[in-house]
Amino acid sequence: MESKVNPRFMPFLILQLILMTHICLGADTIFANQSLSGAQTIVSAGGVYALGFFKPGTSSNYYVGIWYHRVLKQTVVWVANREKPVSDRFSSELKISDGNLVLFNESKLPIWSTNLSSTSSPVHAVLLDNGNLVLNDGSNSSKPLWQSFDNPTDTFLPGSKIGYNKVTKTHQLLTSWKNSEDPSPGPFTLQLEESDKSYIIAWNRTSQYWTSGAWNRRIFSLIPEMRLDYIYDFSFVDNDNESYFTYSVKNTSTTISRCVLGPSGQIKQLNYLPAVNKWTLFWAQPRQQCEVYPFCGVYGSCAEFSLPFCRCLMGFEPKSQSDWDLEDYSSGCKRRTKLQCGNESLTNGQGDRFLKMPSMSLPENKQSLRVGSTAECESSCLSKCSCTAYAYDDNGCSIWTGDLLNMKQLAANDEIGTTLFVRLAASEFQNHPKGFPHNRKLYIILFGIIAAAVVSSCIACSVYYLRRKNMVKKQGNRRSNIQGYQQLSLYKSERQITDFILSGQLKEDGKKGINVPFVALESILAATDNFSEANKLGQGGFGPVYKGKFPGGQEIAIKRLSSGSGQGLQEFKNEVLLIAKLQHRNLVRLLGYCVEENEQMLLYEFMSNKSLDLFIFDQKLSALLNWEIRLNIVMGIARGLLYLHHDSRLTIIHRDLKTSNVLLDEEMNPKISDFGLARIFGGKQTEASTNKIVGTYGYMSPEYALDGLFSIKSDVFSFGVVTLEIITGKRNTGLYQSEQALSLIGYVWKLWKENSALDLMEATLSETCTADEFLRCINVGLLCVQEDPNDRPTMSNALVMLRSETGSLPSPKQPAFIVKRSLSCLAASAKPLSNNGLTNTLSEGR
Ligand SMILES: *[C@@H]1O[C@H](CO)[C@@H](O)[C@H](O)[C@H]1NC(C)=O
Ligand SMILES: *[C@@H]1O[C@H](CO)[C@@H](O)[C@H](O)[C@H]1NC(C)=O
Ligand SMILES: *[C@@H]1O[C@H](CO)[C@@H](O)[C@H](O)[C@H]1NC(C)=O
Ligand SMILES: *[C@@H]1O[C@H](CO)[C@@H](O)[C@H](O)[C@H]1NC(C)=O
Ligand SMILES: *[C@@H]1O[C@H](CO)[C@@H](O)[C@H](O)[C@H]1NC(C)=O
Ligand SMILES: *[C@@H]1O[C@H](CO)[C@@H](O)[C@H](O)[C@H]1NC(C)=O
Ligand SMILES: *[C@@H]1O[C@H](CO)[C@@H](O)[C@H](O)[C@H]1NC(C)=O
Ligand SMILES: *[C@@H]1O[C@H](CO)[C@@H](O)[C@H](O)[C@H]1NC(C)=O
Repeated sequence: MESKVNPRFMPFLILQLILMTHICLGADTIFANQSLSGAQTIVSAGGVYALGFFKPGTSSNYYVGIWYHRVLKQTVVWVANREKPVSDRFSSELKISDGNLVLFNESKLPIWSTNLSSTSSPVHAVLLDNGNLVLNDGSNSSKPLWQSFDNPTDTFLPGSKIGYNKVTKTHQLLTSWKNSEDPSPGPFTLQLEESDKSYIIAWNRTSQYWTSGAWNRRIFSLIPEMRLDYIYDFSFVDNDNESYFTYSVKNTSTTISRCVLGPSGQIKQLNYLPAVNKWTLFWAQPRQQCEVYPFCGVYGSCAEFSLPFCRCLMGFEPKSQSDWDLEDYSSGCKRRTKLQCGNESLTNGQGDRFLKMPSMSLPENKQSLRVGSTAECESSCLSKCSCTAYAYDDNGCSIWTGDLLNMKQLAANDEIGTTLFVRLAASEFQNHPKGFPHNRKLYIILFGIIAAAVVSSCIACSVYYLRRKNMVKKQGNRRSNIQGYQQLSLYKSERQITDFILSGQLKEDGKKGINVPFVALESILAATDNFSEANKLGQGGFGPVYKGKFPGGQEIAIKRLSSGSGQGLQEFKNEVLLIAKLQHRNLVRLLGYCVEENEQMLLYEFMSNKSLDLFIFDQKLSALLNWEIRLNIVMGIARGLLYLHHDSRLTIIHRDLKTSNVLLDEEMNPKISDFGLARIFGGKQTEASTNKIVGTYGYMSPEYALDGLFSIKSDVFSFGVVTLEIITGKRNTGLYQSEQALSLIGYVWKLWKENSALDLMEATLSETCTADEFLRCINVGLLCVQEDPNDRPTMSNALVMLRSETGSLPSPKQPAFIVKRSLSCLAASAKPLSNNGLTNTLSEGR
């Protein structure tokens, strides 16, 4: 700065200097003679993290914390004074005092400290580039006196540890924030379970509701997502002094990653995308919100298929509406009207009555009674003032005394659902001789009254349930008493549907049923404007795809399987069962399904950028795909396939991977769709054959197209074709140059042999792409389309090769581009291709 400065920049520099001295101590260290106050921060040497006072959300409290310096939306990873905020940061001070780092509040009283017994030498606090705040003395000992990594809050950063120190007998554990605006310790903790070396998430430190499974030297057995270890290195250390789990990112310059135990009680691995300034979810556990115990608090009921997830039972209201507005449901609900037990005379002889709630997962702490009928069970409960609910099922009579906790509203087909009868004051039923759910009109009126307080939900919104970021908050909450009613009516058909689907040949899922919400045809018709042409997004392999807009603005894609042919049925069952189990950011999420009146529909997350083929084969749009985006798409597809091929329990072969089956979200992340043809392999089976050849011309491997043999290597072949198409922007089935008979594969091979594969690079790419990277992708693409499946790499090898910056790759052997001619005959004999011609999916012959 001191050297030659262009005078034009002087005002800017001066301003910056003023700001710097004002905001920063200009360093990464707090020395004994310094203090940090107000808007001042210290920033780690590489500019990665910052430490200072922050204010979460709309809260008026200030906390001292560490956040990412370069992430625009302040994302806090550590908090010092979680429980003791200050309200005026300018008169509060963080400084070294008596050999400790101490936070003094407005009254100059210490409210937080590193709490070390005092040391003689002067100490200083340094913020490191890994997010660790360490307290060192002048001596050069490797061990810091104190470090924030030993005292994590809710965030597990790469390089820090979660575990147990056997010497000091202390846990390093994560404790959730109370809610998004209050970092004080919430009810959920993630910690090491010493006995079996697994990690658990518990509520109130005592009630465990999730476990990672045991460490198997590579991953924790119940987190298959950890197999995707091309981003991270994981290690679990267990020695005489300590046991802990830690991880690091392979490339710290490209990956910003954090693992956080959120106020929702789920642990989430998030990665930051600087290009769009967003955190993206890599995985979350438990996968279902309602598996978090007891997420909705007392008298709250959790429904996975609605947003918000929680609501109070009828006759109850949130204890703290402001907490509920912040999605903090832990305080639960309270009765609106006191129970009348023993006071019948005062209420004109009206005692308490029971509200019937079908398909519930029952609350905890039931007591079993030996009585022989529902009526006796009910009167037993009524006769005890403390009894709040009863249920009568195959196991006989159960009653509950005291508050009801951990209830879930299940889908009507769920086999473990039971009818629960909840005790309410009779006045809650006034004018309802038959109880609420039977009288639609009164039900609605009553709910209209409660609606403002009760955070309600609707089945039409059920597709939101995984898409919280799009959720319409407060107005939405007060919306939907009517839709709430629909919810009841549409379940009646759901059992039939489940029976129907389970009667199919696919037995993989046993009796567990479908873990995906059922959405009523009625609401789909409304959302798509009766499948209007304007809402049609395109034509998929098995029928048209529509865009639907649900109340609240949520957009989803609806695949309407063509009826009549009967072809789609098997695929439909297959797809629902299969995709319901899959969760990966490079696979399209199934959000719901519908079978009604000869209609079969699948509801997917809506991909604003539609499918990849619309981009890469379009002259104008392809210019938007620079090299980085293309490579990201190739990698994403590879990751998605890797997940399918090496998921924890199953090997899934997609069988119809092609560019039109790769959808793009708003950030141009690829997501593989169309699992209608996928096959699941159990156990060790890796190859199968079929006499029904399905798939798409141009993407099919020769052994599959000709002999009906398919394996993960046939998907690898398709991946090779897709890769070549993405980087060259040409269709495999197009015609190139004068070599009219040549497919893209043949053409690429020809140029590769002639050492002129760089000619394939589109002019628009030359600015963003290096020759090395381009050739590496071509090389990998060619390796994937080799004729002999055994020569083709697995998807994990393909990924490694795509990422390796150095190191030479194997030379590809001649690819199987001869398949084109053979296929034309085959296609002709199998089924006429539709007017969409070559890129359409071949249908399964009957
Ligand atoms: C504070 O202490 C450090 C190290 O002892 C020294 O380098 C620095 O000059 C001091 N700053 C002030 C403002 O006294
Ligand atoms: C500062 O902290 C002390 C001790 O916790 C507390 O008694 C006092 O009220 C606090 N002062 C202010 C202004 O909050
Ligand atoms: C420091 O120690 C005091 C008393 O031992 C305790 O109340 C306080 O919570 C401790 N503070 C921290 C940050 O550990
Ligand atoms: C501390 O160690 C570093 C490198 O290990 C060395 O450069 C430095 O001089 C040492 N300082 C002291 C006070 O020993
Ligand atoms: C939390 O657990 C403690 C025992 O560890 C228990 O005394 C307390 O009642 C529990 N809190 C709630 C809200 O259940
Ligand atoms: C455990 O701690 C002791 C004392 O600090 C040390 O000598 C020993 O090397 C440690 N063991 C391991 C495995 O780190
Ligand atoms: C990390 O990624 C960057 C950008 O892609 C690259 O330049 C660098 O070499 C990579 N570092 C490692 C260690 O792989
Ligand atoms: C019965 O009524 C009396 C007087 O209204 C009230 O104090 C008492 O709490 C009531 N008992 C119950 C169980 O509601």
